[in-house]
Amino acid sequence: MLNFKEQYNSFLNQIENRLFNLLKDKEPKSIYEPFDYILKGGGKRVRPVLTMICSGLNGGNPSEALDSACAMEILHNFTLVHDDIMDRSNLRRGRETIHIKWSEPIAILTGDIMVGYAFGLLPNCSNHERSEYIKNEFVKALIEVCEGQAYDMDFNTDKNVSLEKYLLMIEKKTSRVLEACATIGGHIAKMDLDEIENLRKYANNLGIAFQIQDDWLDISAEQNQLGKKIGNDILEGKKTYLIIKAKELAKSSNDVKLLDEFYQNNGMTEEYIPEFFNLFKNLGIIESTVEEFNNYFKKALDNLVKIKDSEYKSMLEWLVTTLMVRKF
Ligand code: IPE
Ligand code: IPE
Ligand code: MG
Ligand code: MG
Ligand code: MG
Repeated sequence: MLNFKEQYNSFLNQIENRLFNLLKDKEPKSIYEPFDYILKGGGKRVRPVLTMICSGLNGGNPSEALDSACAMEILHNFTLVHDDIMDRSNLRRGRETIHIKWSEPIAILTGDIMVGYAFGLLPNCSNHERSEYIKNEFVKALIEVCEGQAYDMDFNTDKNVSLEKYLLMIEKKTSRVLEACATIGGHIAKMDLDEIENLRKYANNLGIAFQIQDDWLDISAEQNQLGKKIGNDILEGKKTYLIIKAKELAKSSNDVKLLDEFYQNNGMTEEYIPEFFNLFKNLGIIESTVEEFNNYFKKALDNLVKIKDSEYKSMLEWLVTTLMVRKF
């Protein structure tokens, strides 16, 4: 095998080649242009690469998972297109979001058609003996990501979001798609079903870590590195890990007042974003959030212990340590 970074890029190139040739000459342009635009906007491609790595476990051949990997990237991109409407986000991967560059109706329809394309890329029963399992994993992820997104929106007006409720919400909105990526890869490699459950646990913890880190990046990253608007979660009144922690730890009357306003108004205006950064910083939350997501990344590593040793297993470990220090 190449070194892991080169192997990652090799998978990424195969995935992008397939994705970029999927929509050639399709009509109508009104929907295929934005579909093509979101696919070509970059992104880390963590999910399809995860599928390909897992399909190499058990002596499998990752190229056999290419279409399923692309299905998972398209499913993920569908969630982003609709998420950006819900979160009123204008910027994604450093470019205008589809509902801003085109319109909301176009962004809704683009997301819808993407689900069809994703589903269509999965193997059918004539070309894979695990096709039924694979379909079930995909459907479960699709349903639960929507449930998670619904909780995320419900929480905007919920004044009592506990850490427990937050964790359930992010497991649905973020972990489930990663779980499907890993387990589908495992099925393509025809792994034993109980080994696939270890992959699921790995991806579950990876997803929890990834989302807590995403909340942290929202306020502490560099906008031109992140490619998304810094502080958007504050504008939108999101009950992020950092906000829930701040509610728990704030004692001074100024801090309590600021948070009360956030909870009352379901978010704050632009000029308050630096105040929230300072609030988190002074309460030690910027630092403790890093510890928290690293704990979940470490749990993901522990979940790999029971999987048989191989180069691809080592690559799953490498993926965790690489994501731990991501800047976007
Ligand atoms: C963003 O996912 C949405 C979340 C689940 C946090 P990524 O951070 O993987 O986005 P891209 O695909 O790399 O742009
Ligand atoms: C999104 O969570 C999770 C999805 C299922 C798309 P966020 O709303 O925090 O993702 P970003 O920050 O916009 O990428
Ligand atoms: Mg969102
Ligand atoms: Mg969002
Ligand atoms: Mg976010």
